[in-house]
Amino acid sequence: MLAGERGEAVRLAMEILTKVGDIYGAEKMIEIASAHTVMTPYRDIMDAGVEICEKFAELGARYSVPTTLDPAGMDLQRWRELKIPEDYAERQMRIVRAQEKLGGIPVWTCTPYLHGNIPMPGQHLGWSESSAVVFANSVMGARTNRLTAVVDMAAGIVGRVPKFGLHLDENRQGKILVKINVKPKTLTDTDYPAIGYFIGKQVADKIPVLTGVPSSVSIDQLKNMGAAMAASGSVALYHISGVTSEAKNIDKSFQKGEWEDIVELRVRELKQTKEEMCTARAGEVDFITVGCPHYSIMEIRKLATLLKGKKIHKRTKFWIYTTKHVEMLAKRAGYSSIIEASGAQILTETCMLVSPTDIYGFKTLMTDSGKCAHYAPTLCKTEVVYGSIEDCVETAIKGSLQ
Ligand code: F3S
Repeated sequence: MLAGERGEAVRLAMEILTKVGDIYGAEKMIEIASAHTVMTPYRDIMDAGVEICEKFAELGARYSVPTTLDPAGMDLQRWRELKIPEDYAERQMRIVRAQEKLGGIPVWTCTPYLHGNIPMPGQHLGWSESSAVVFANSVMGARTNRLTAVVDMAAGIVGRVPKFGLHLDENRQGKILVKINVKPKTLTDTDYPAIGYFIGKQVADKIPVLTGVPSSVSIDQLKNMGAAMAASGSVALYHISGVTSEAKNIDKSFQKGEWEDIVELRVRELKQTKEEMCTARAGEVDFITVGCPHYSIMEIRKLATLLKGKKIHKRTKFWIYTTKHVEMLAKRAGYSSIIEASGAQILTETCMLVSPTDIYGFKTLMTDSGKCAHYAPTLCKTEVVYGSIEDCVETAIKGSLQ
């Protein structure tokens, strides 16, 4: 491949992977079951990214393993209604067309593991998107490093990645013991992103092993906790003793080794973390946004129950981000009509952080997402309020926090 025997596109992709492998001291390449690429939102990859996608497409590259696409930089159907500038949309559509040519699976989501790209335990992957990587490694027991943009495309084209980091057994060993000392039965949906946020800050990129998380924890709670952990820190793998794939017990999680440190999270730290996640505590809220990572059908169902028969305040936008699959299910189940009747709106194939929400001049954003709370001040240029979905609905109706 490196010699160009399978064409220039494959040679170029292999050259990228080989360079990455050299930097990290990988001894060989391994085959992957799938790839997931973040070479998708114009807002992030800009003109250079458009050119790279088009260059690979023009060279005749095709993904050789199933490769799913992360969210685009705008709602691909409603962008005009959302007043996305024409020149931005035109560049975004160039990315869409190039990714179509490459054969990317157009799920346009950060939750590919809920939408067809579902790895088996132990399978090697070439994924980017921090929230998806941490889910694949931790919950599904698959193996992927946090690839960067372009390297993820190269992995999809070649169908291989250099073998280093989390592909190796010894690098999946827990390093920090995190004791969740909160009564398991009292843990709510809002606690999990805050737990993730706290752990990310404490452990940075080390592998935490959590105790005290009940086995009744849901997929959505793990999805939202991992996303926050990967945002406030750069965690790509966590173990939950007795719950996640490679953590049958403490010994397994630490591979019989010792932990480097112990971190404790009690009710007090949980409360403090939720406070730290907010930059505003009173006043008007003009943007309520959920679905980071993309909302599942279960989360949409819960939101529809909360919004039933309610009207959100006229000054407030309430945008819910999800996939086309979930939107279709929500329509069929009647959740969409309830949500829309309240004045809230379901947007698809993008999100509040990778689309240009800063163009609307929102002042205060409220969310139930730990990842969104972390990035909103920089990417949406707003004050941020973190709260439960119940709090988000209550605030949306009043248009303010009090
Ligand atoms: Fe997904 Fe956008 Fe959040 S890509 S994890 S919804 S930042």
